[in-house]
Amino acid sequence: MEFKAIIDAKARNEAGCAVVGVYDDGNLGKAAQQIDKQTGGLIGKLHADGDFSGKLGEVLLLPAPAGAAAARVLLVGLGARASFGRKQYRRALQSTVQALAKTGARDAVVYLALEQAGDLDVEYRARNVAEVFCAQLYKIPDLKTSAKPKAPRLSSVGVAVADARACKAAAQGLRIGAAVGRGLALSRDLANLPPNVCTPTYLGTRAQGLSKDFPSIKTKVLDENAIKALKMGAFLAVAQGSDQPPRLIVSEYHGGKKGAPPICLIGKGITFDSGGISLKDPPAMDEMKFDMSGAAAVLGTLRTIAELKLPVNLVVIVATCENMPGGGAVKPADIVTSMSGQTVEILNTDAEGRLILCDAITYSRRFKPAAVIDVATLTGACIIALGNHFSGLMSNDETLADELASAGIRADDRAWRLPIGEEYVDQLKSNFADIANIGGREGGACTAASFLSKFAKDLQWAHLDVAGTAWLGGAQKGSTGRPVPLLVDFLINRVNST
Ligand code: BES
Ligand code: MN
Ligand code: ZN
Repeated sequence: MEFKAIIDAKARNEAGCAVVGVYDDGNLGKAAQQIDKQTGGLIGKLHADGDFSGKLGEVLLLPAPAGAAAARVLLVGLGARASFGRKQYRRALQSTVQALAKTGARDAVVYLALEQAGDLDVEYRARNVAEVFCAQLYKIPDLKTSAKPKAPRLSSVGVAVADARACKAAAQGLRIGAAVGRGLALSRDLANLPPNVCTPTYLGTRAQGLSKDFPSIKTKVLDENAIKALKMGAFLAVAQGSDQPPRLIVSEYHGGKKGAPPICLIGKGITFDSGGISLKDPPAMDEMKFDMSGAAAVLGTLRTIAELKLPVNLVVIVATCENMPGGGAVKPADIVTSMSGQTVEILNTDAEGRLILCDAITYSRRFKPAAVIDVATLTGACIIALGNHFSGLMSNDETLADELASAGIRADDRAWRLPIGEEYVDQLKSNFADIANIGGREGGACTAASFLSKFAKDLQWAHLDVAGTAWLGGAQKGSTGRPVPLLVDFLINRVNST
């Protein structure tokens, strides 16, 4: 999809489709007014006659309206003007894409970015167009042998803005939005793949592929022997029950000043979580192919940042393996020594995410990072706490936590802060080792994060528990790509504010 910014508030463009907004009180958006004039009051009449109410998300396609420059006009309901903000704007864009995809239009001009939407500036309004279009048009790389539905014809989207100054900002917004779209698609593709394809080895190969596409990314993939040499005893314990060998993927992107401390993003890459010897129940076990969503998200984020050539230093670390109940699998009561030297009693082999992440966090220290952020589908308890709307956000650093929470709001990919601390660490007491890997049912998301905090001492560290947000179940089963938008926004904002 090609996106471009165009100056024309007057709806004079001869597009395959002009997309204009109408508020629910019959007030026409800026471009709708122009088209209403061109068509002898057609839009006003449709509202007055009750054929188009302007309710948020409502759409009405007007094929070949006489007088209009565009071949088609798509009316999009914007709801009440007073409450038209970020969410409503994105909602209107989502309806736009769904409706446009059903038309034969090859190109469209979207006039919705001319409307005031909360506190969004024109760059964000344009960025949202590209982001929403890319996300809505995403197709799962399925293995269905039946005939594929026809792909929409639409290949070019113009975003109309008022003047030259706005045009520059919109072009920048579109560039960012399209890059987020491609990072999100990469993340979703990886997570949607079946686990017999998307193995730890495969993830390593894909990370190396990213390096080929973007020479600014340097990738090393460490194999089992190299991981042993690093003494990552906790990570290896999880991997040992599977026939698939583990991988530690380390990708470095140097876009910032030489020697400036990097930001480390760590992803949980369990390509299948059977639970191990503490085997999971069969219902929905298939969804545990998504247990590498954290890994997919940090790789997707890396792709976006490299495409944008963002002036930042970034290190992406992915610890990836399967969690399986093989004959050599780790057992409840086994004690392992983590890379940090701390011993861990593994009381439940299904609490494996924290075991691979604790060693990845220790490994990140060699980069002397400015901040470390791990992303993981870590606990079912986080879903119980927050549902599927917010990712869990835990941190030992107030500033970092605030930055991530605000990035989530701006990117419409929200995270909610949850507590960590000594009280929760107390729940992880073991009679036999420094720490146990589970802390009881109460506050499960917080004990998991507090486990990690024991390995993140003196680092500026944050943890995003995306168990409830990284994928959808049910009829819409599939990866969401979250929290790629949050992470990209966080990084862009860091760069702009330093
Ligand atoms: N990958 C799961 C967490 C998960 C479960 C994410 C369901 C999304 C949906 C994780 O490895 C896990 O199994 N966690 C256990 C921890 C428990 C044994 C302390 C859990 O949440 O049940
Ligand atoms: Mn598990
Ligand atoms: Zn897991």
